[in-house]
Amino acid sequence: MTKRKTKELKQLINTINYDSEYRLEISDNLQDFFELMQLYNSAIREVRTKLETLDEEFHVRYNHNPIHHIESRLKSPQSIFEKLKRKGYEISVESIRNNLADIAGIRVICNYIEDIYTISELLLQQDDITLIRKRDYIANPKENGYRSLHLVIEVPIFLSDRKELVPVEIQIRTIAMDCWASLEHQLMYKSAKSLPDYLRVQLKECADSIADIDLKMQNIFKQL
Ligand code: GTP
Ligand code: MG
Repeated sequence: MTKRKTKELKQLINTINYDSEYRLEISDNLQDFFELMQLYNSAIREVRTKLETLDEEFHVRYNHNPIHHIESRLKSPQSIFEKLKRKGYEISVESIRNNLADIAGIRVICNYIEDIYTISELLLQQDDITLIRKRDYIANPKENGYRSLHLVIEVPIFLSDRKELVPVEIQIRTIAMDCWASLEHQLMYKSAKSLPDYLRVQLKECADSIADIDLKMQNIFKQL
């Protein structure tokens, strides 16, 4: 057993012991749970490679890198169980499969706004990729000012005895959008409950200024 798996197993067992509801389904199916997690991990690797290939090709062809950097994460067992519980779903391996689309998460940080749509289009036109859901929070920002392009896609993973279609959540945003989203996330977390209205207004103003800067920077880039 690898180091990583031992750590995950410990975390999982702690979670199961911590709340008796979790004990119901998962504890009898630890092996299935790990096999499912391994599948999501493979899906992350697969999609990361696709994105890196596109970025490299752009660099070689056009001397421009659309992608600044890529982050990815596998949702932790704790967060998985908390989300199932919060949404009122059954706590089981089957329920994870059926109800959660964000176990495998990839964040693509692009240089310019147009790069976001370029990367999204090029990824979606690949014939092994299926689009499950698209939310354009750039064309339609959230009320708080949040901007990003969200995709849920399905990618095939080939195992020893079968092919599995695995969902991956992808958030694509500029460096500036990422800066705002990271700080906003920290502020919301720090304030524990909700932010007072006057601070919400200021935060929204920051998001709008940042969007303006993104456009100006893109215009400069396009004039070169
Ligand atoms: P979940 O069920 O919580 O995943 O929400 P959803 O299915 O409605 O998805 P949505 O596309 O709205 O958001 C999914 C993810 O986007 C979140 O887990 C965050 O990572 C990010 N996100 C969405 N809204 C915000 C926001 O207002 N601020 C920040 N910082 N991140 C956000
Ligand atoms: Mg989510």
